[in-house]
Amino acid sequence: MPDPLSSPEADAPDIPPMAAERQRRILIVDDDERSAGFCRGVLEGYGYIAVAVANGEAAMESALVEPCDLMLLDLVLPGMDGLTLLGRLREDVMTRSIPVVVVTGVTDREPLTRAFEIGVDDYLIKPYVISELLVRIKSVLRKRELEEQLIRSNMDLRRALQNLQQKEAHLIQSAKLAAIGTLAAGVAHELNQPLMVVRGTVQMMLQDMPRSDGCREDLRGIELQTGRMMRIINHLTDFSRQANQERRPVDVNGVIKDAFTFVGQQLTNHTVSVKMDLADALPPVPANRTQIEQVFLNILLNARDALHGRRDAVLSVRTEYVTDPARIRTALDRLSVKREQISQRGYVVTTFTDNGTGISPENIGRIFDPFFTTKPPGKGTGLGLSVSYNIVQEHGGWIRAESKPGEGTSFSVYLPVGSS
Ligand SMILES: Nc1ncnc2c1ncn2[C@@H]1O[C@H](COP(=O)(O)OP(=O)(O)OP(=O)(O)O)[C@@H](O)[C@H]1O
Ligand SMILES: [Mg+2]
Repeated sequence: MPDPLSSPEADAPDIPPMAAERQRRILIVDDDERSAGFCRGVLEGYGYIAVAVANGEAAMESALVEPCDLMLLDLVLPGMDGLTLLGRLREDVMTRSIPVVVVTGVTDREPLTRAFEIGVDDYLIKPYVISELLVRIKSVLRKRELEEQLIRSNMDLRRALQNLQQKEAHLIQSAKLAAIGTLAAGVAHELNQPLMVVRGTVQMMLQDMPRSDGCREDLRGIELQTGRMMRIINHLTDFSRQANQERRPVDVNGVIKDAFTFVGQQLTNHTVSVKMDLADALPPVPANRTQIEQVFLNILLNARDALHGRRDAVLSVRTEYVTDPARIRTALDRLSVKREQISQRGYVVTTFTDNGTGISPENIGRIFDPFFTTKPPGKGTGLGLSVSYNIVQEHGGWIRAESKPGEGTSFSVYLPVGSS
């Protein structure tokens, strides 16, 4: 029954050819030309790409130039013998993982043991039958494929884990911020009481004080500033209150002024000069006032950061009512807004322009992604713009960003006037 490989009368094994799979490349290393040629013919007949070389040096060169999926290696070779070649293959990073099946004579047990020590994958004892050759090749290739799959899944898992850890860190950070927000609202509420007492006392002192008294001016200053503090506190309390989802007609200019209650002083501290150009007769937009203020605040705080340390820092805020369909289409075209999504009654457009750091072309496409930030840890969560984007989109609107690195950035918020 056994037909030696060297015999042309080989058996016809019952193994399906590898038709649909990628063709595997097998390198036959055998100095016996007849046996190598026959083996190549058989393997080609079973869908493999088979290449034969007659010595170890040629095998090493071939494996380095064109990677093979498996090497069929005769241990007895002229010049560099099979074991030496095996050792070299396992030392070289380029060839280390090539599966090797050695072919050895029935009496050569000792080199076979050595071959396993060096790292061979399987072996065949001469003479062997073709069915055995094919089965062993298939099983070694399958094993290697599974190993590769395992390595790939391991890498995927590692990546997923890293991603998860990063997200977890961000979530902890945003939970911390939410906690700080609640705390700040509580503190603000507490501060309101003593502040009212101070303001009330100052007002009473002013009432009783003669007009000519030199202290009047100072007390007026205290009254003015405590009034401002109370307005900030009241607004903070309103703002932090769990926002209801209700939408009412909102005056966008008024929302901008509210947002400046929070950030106006911060911008002044950063020596930013603010230029306001608010349109006179803006139609109201159906919106959740708190959410829109949150969007404006995020954009303003980003501008503050981008302007940090700049001498001639300028931030301009402009509102306008845009109804021209051609202009709206041009502006929204780049955001892939479909025609049917465009509001027939036009948009109230608020544009914030700063002459800050600008955003690089690689980053501009990512700024609305959750957790994308270029700020140092602890300074930014990367949530501001992604939350803003969602809010504006839920209102049927759009945010458009344009930037030139080193020159500045402009954010335009489009809010549809709708039917209200
Ligand atoms: N006006 C701007 N000028 C320059 N870069 C900006 C501007 N606005 C946004 N960016 C860039 O977009 C990134 C994302 O902004 P986003 O508001 O989403 O997150 P953040 O400001 O980093 O963190 P936070 O969650 O605290 O807002 C910023 O880190 C910054 O790189
Ligand atoms: Mg931000």
